[in-house]
Amino acid sequence: MVISVIFLAVFTTAGLGNLLDQMWIKTENSGFVNASTPNLDYTSLSLFQLYPVNDQYLKFTVKACSYAFIILASDIYLFSFYDYRIVIGAGNNSKINFRRNYDLIIISFDISTPGILNCTKHKSFELNWTVSGRITLMSGSKMVMNWTDPLPISIKGVGITTGLGSVGLWKVEHYSKFTGFYCGEPGAYGSMTLLSTIKKHSRVDCVSLCLVRDDCLGINFNCKTEECQIIAAGQQVIKMVV
Ligand SMILES: *[C@@H]1O[C@H](CO)[C@@H](O)[C@H](O)[C@H]1NC(C)=O
Ligand SMILES: *[C@@H]1O[C@H](CO)[C@@H](O)[C@H](O)[C@H]1NC(C)=O
Ligand SMILES: *[C@@H]1O[C@H](CO)[C@@H](O)[C@H](O)[C@H]1NC(C)=O
Ligand SMILES: *[C@@H]1O[C@H](CO)[C@@H](O)[C@H](O)[C@H]1NC(C)=O
Ligand SMILES: *[C@@H]1O[C@H](CO)[C@@H](O)[C@H](O)[C@H]1NC(C)=O
Repeated sequence: MVISVIFLAVFTTAGLGNLLDQMWIKTENSGFVNASTPNLDYTSLSLFQLYPVNDQYLKFTVKACSYAFIILASDIYLFSFYDYRIVIGAGNNSKINFRRNYDLIIISFDISTPGILNCTKHKSFELNWTVSGRITLMSGSKMVMNWTDPLPISIKGVGITTGLGSVGLWKVEHYSKFTGFYCGEPGAYGSMTLLSTIKKHSRVDCVSLCLVRDDCLGINFNCKTEECQIIAAGQQVIKMVV
C-alpha cells in the first residue's frame, strides 16, 4: 500500500477586498483503501490550518478520475471510531458511497451518479452537516445527497484522500483570517522554510514553478516586488500577517 501524500498549498486571493482563499492540496493514490479501511490514509485538513468544522461545511473542487474520499470524524486527528465517509466516484466513477461508522453499527448506501468526477476537469462540491444530523452534498448546483442521521455524530475533524489508483487535486475554499501585503490586499503569507526566492512576473508563473517541483509545498507571491518564494514541502502550513 502506498501511503504518500504531496501537499500543494497555493495561497490565492479571489478578488479585491475579498478574504476568500483557496488551498490547493494534492492527494496521492493511497492504494487499496475503501470506505471500511482504517483512517490512516486520510489527510486531515487541520494540517493546513483549515477547520471546516467551525462552519459545518466544506466547499471544494476536485480533479480526479474516481474515488475521492472525505471523512467527517469525531476526532480532529481522525483517530476515531465514529465517522462518516463519503466516496465520490466510487465504482469506477459511477456512484457515491456513503458510510456511517458508529461502534459496530454501520449504515452504508450508494447513490447512482454516473460520471460525477472528471479526470481533466475540476468538479465543484459542497458538503454540509448540522448538529441535528442532516448531511447534504451538492454537486455543482445539483443536490445529490440529503440524508439525516437519527443518531448524529459530533464532527471534530475532516480529512480527504484518493485511492484505488486515483490521485486528486483538491481546491478547498476557506475564508482567510489574515491580511498582509503579499499579493495585494489582503493576502496570506506562508511562514515556513523557503527553498528559494526568484523574480517572476505573475503569480501564475510562480505557481507553475512550484507545480514542477516535488519538494515544493506552495508559494508566496508578492505582486509589488514580483518576488516568488518557493515554500519547502514536508511541513505544516502556517499563515501569518506580514
Ligand atoms: C476494503 O478493503 C479491505 C482491505 O483493505 C478489504 O479486506 C475489504 O474487503 C474491502 N471492502 C470492500 C467493500 O471492498
Ligand atoms: C471505467 O469506466 C471507463 C469509462 O466509462 C471505462 O472505459 C472503463 O473500462 C471502466 N473500467 C472498469 C474497470 O470497469
Ligand atoms: C471531462 O471534461 C472534459 C473537458 O471539459 C470533457 O471534454 C470530457 O467529456 C469530460 N469527461 C467526462 C467523462 O465527462
Ligand atoms: C452550506 O453551508 C453554507 C455556509 O453556511 C451555505 O452558504 C450553503 O447554502 C449551505 N448549503 C446547503 C445546500 O445547505
Ligand atoms: C433535505 O430534506 C429535508 C426533508 O427530507 C428537507 O426538509 C430539507 O429542506 C432538505 N434540504 C435541502 C437543502 O433541500
